[in-house]
Amino acid sequence: MERDSSFSAETAGVSSGDRDALAGVTVIVCASCRNETGSDSHPRAGELLAEDTRRAASGENVRIRSVECLGNCKRRLSAAILRDGCWSYVFGDLTATSGADLVTGAKLFATSTDGLIPWRGRPDSLKRGLVARIPPLDLVKDLT
Ligand code: FES
Repeated sequence: MERDSSFSAETAGVSSGDRDALAGVTVIVCASCRNETGSDSHPRAGELLAEDTRRAASGENVRIRSVECLGNCKRRLSAAILRDGCWSYVFGDLTATSGADLVTGAKLFATSTDGLIPWRGRPDSLKRGLVARIPPLDLVKDLT
């Protein structure tokens, strides 16, 4: 299980001084994910999550993008959070109303000083729903 890092963000609040950092964070939502019934109907549950995330990010300096598939279909509604030069995160088991959680995660990421999304303060959906975190290439050691 992923452990808390030494970084401790007290809140997910982002001051005006952190707005530049928040600009380096991108939330990517899979707009193709189906609801729990697997229905093909539109709008897809993933589209609803993308809309909900855009709404939650309104007025925030965070990029919200959507894609057709994150290759995480078995974990239902899926999204990723990326930050330049930091670890990349993939989440599943989200709901159509998880947008605020994704934006909270993006804000926490923006305040991180170690390249990880802090565990403390992270919404439960981004704890239980963690699928993988992928390091930036600069952190990957060569095999000898
Ligand atoms: S359709 Fe959403 S992850 Fe594949």
